[in-house]
Amino acid sequence: MLDGFVIRAATAADTDAIDGVVRAAFAGTEFGHQGEADLVRMLEADGDMLVSLVAEIAGTVAGHVLFSRMDVEADGAALPAAGLAPVSVAPDRQGQGIGGALIRAGLDALRRQGAAMSFVLGHDAYYPRFGYSPELAARFASPFAGPHLMAQMLDPEADWPRGGRADYAPAFGRLG
Ligand SMILES: CC(C)(COP(=O)(O)OP(=O)(O)OC[C@H]1O[C@@H](n2cnc3c(N)ncnc32)[C@H](O)[C@@H]1OP(=O)(O)O)[C@@H](O)C(=O)NCCC(=O)NCCS
Repeated sequence: MLDGFVIRAATAADTDAIDGVVRAAFAGTEFGHQGEADLVRMLEADGDMLVSLVAEIAGTVAGHVLFSRMDVEADGAALPAAGLAPVSVAPDRQGQGIGGALIRAGLDALRRQGAAMSFVLGHDAYYPRFGYSPELAARFASPFAGPHLMAQMLDPEADWPRGGRADYAPAFGRLG
C-alpha cells in the first residue's frame, strides 16, 4: 500500500462518487465517458459485479476498479472467471500508482473468492504487468478476440487451458 490512499470495498454510498470518477477518467478518451459509467450501473443492476474497490484519499474517492462475472468454458468445463472493466483514476491523480494498486487488490480479492481466470480488454502496454497475456486469451473464442484481449490464470502455477470460450456479462452486449 502506498502512502496517501487506502483501497477498500465499494459500498452503496459510493455510487455517485464512483460515477463521477469514471466519467472524469474517461472524458476525452477513445472510449467515451457515458458508456463506461452506464456499464458500471448495468453490471450492478444485473448483479454481475464480483469485486468493486475504491481508492480513497482523505475521504474522497479518487479511483475505482470493477471486476464482473464472465461465462467462461475451458477445455469443456465451466471456469469461474471475472472481467476487469472499467478501471478509472481521477485525472489529477493518475500516474501515482493508484490504478495499479486497485488492479492488484482486485486480483487478490478474486483469488479469495475462488475465481480461476480473469480477462481484460485494453492496452497491451499496460495490463501485462499485472499478469495478463494476449497469448492466453487467444486460446478462447470471444466476440472481443484480438490483440487487446488478454487473460491470466489467477493461480500462476495453473496450467493454461488448451482452448475454450469467453463471454463477458450481458451488460457488455448492451453498450451503445
Ligand atoms: C488507466 C488508468 C486506470 C491507470 O491508472 P493510474 O493510477 O494512472 O496508473 P498507475 O499510476 O498505476 O500506472 C501508471 C502507468 O500506466 C500507464 N498508463 C496509464 N494510462 C494508460 C493507458 N490508457 N494506456 C496505456 N498505459 C497507460 C502509464 O503510462 C504508466 O506507465 P509506466 O508505469 O510504464 O510509466 C488511468 O490512467 C485512467 O483512469 N485512465 C483513463 C481511463 C482508462 O483509459 N481506463 C482504462 C481503459 S482500458
